[in-house]
Amino acid sequence: MSTENVWQEKITPARFDGKTVIVTGAGSGIGKATALRVAQEGGKVIAADISGERLGELVAENPELSIVAVAGDITDQHVVDRIVAAGEGKVDALANVAGIMDKFEPIHEVEDSTWERVFNVNLNSILKLTRSVVPLMLEAESGTVVNVASEAGLRGSAAGVAYTASKHAVVGMTKNSAVMYGKKGIRFNAVAPGAVQTNIEAPMDSAYAQQVIAPLMSIIPGMATAAQLAASITFLLSDDSTNINGVVLASDTGWSAI
Ligand SMILES: NC(=O)c1ccc[n+]([C@@H]2O[C@H](COP(=O)([O-])OP(=O)(O)OC[C@H]3O[C@@H](n4cnc5c(N)ncnc54)[C@H](O)[C@@H]3O)[C@@H](O)[C@H]2O)c1
Repeated sequence: MSTENVWQEKITPARFDGKTVIVTGAGSGIGKATALRVAQEGGKVIAADISGERLGELVAENPELSIVAVAGDITDQHVVDRIVAAGEGKVDALANVAGIMDKFEPIHEVEDSTWERVFNVNLNSILKLTRSVVPLMLEAESGTVVNVASEAGLRGSAAGVAYTASKHAVVGMTKNSAVMYGKKGIRFNAVAPGAVQTNIEAPMDSAYAQQVIAPLMSIIPGMATAAQLAASITFLLSDDSTNINGVVLASDTGWSAI
């Protein structure tokens, strides 16, 4: 079952009026769709991505929207500092979307360089950025953070060991922060996408994984669009999700129910 052919994105006017929202991975796929949706609904978006070219296109194609581009590698604290500084002391919401896949390597095949890069981009960057943003939210006594996990944060059959472990860690970071900051008016939630049509590279280079994992992936019920994921992410970023804290929302065409 997939709704991608019939569903149309519908803007909720003014849902993010007056809000400053950081979106990482805003140059492509789910992050770009999220940045556009927030900006179209009245928010000021701080769009972060390693690709200055992609960010330049995003801004040039949408001159009517309030989008501030910050290019750089979000694993670098100096880049994180520039992203937060673009908020000029105000960050109402943070969408940690940027991430990279592995090549489906099981633990006996994974190289240190893959493990370290996947953890740096998928997890450590979220630590750095969130740690820098939370003091502003504590001062404001409000804020929302949405971390993009994955079906691989819910099950063991959606990627290699590095990506799977990194996304399970994103889930843990989300739940701990939800408890730590819930009473301070700051909500933390995660979205776990299933298969989504984007530019992410996910080559199943491991012959071992092709034998073990590929058959299990045949149950995937459908491919979503990036805009469908943006609908789930912006719901959790917005005040519409006021009573929701610490959830991992599977946005996966029903994959997690199988
Ligand atoms: N596409 C899927 O099927 C799928 C499924 C589950 C989860 N996800 C997750 O969704 C998120 C978004 O992925 P996507 O599918 O939109 O991929 P994408 O490749 O289309 O977009 C990711 C963006 O993040 C940016 N990025 C990567 N590393 C970066 C870094 N170090 N610093 C700054 N920017 C960086 C890239 O330049 C790119 O523009 C990721 O966290 C991914 O793990 C995707």
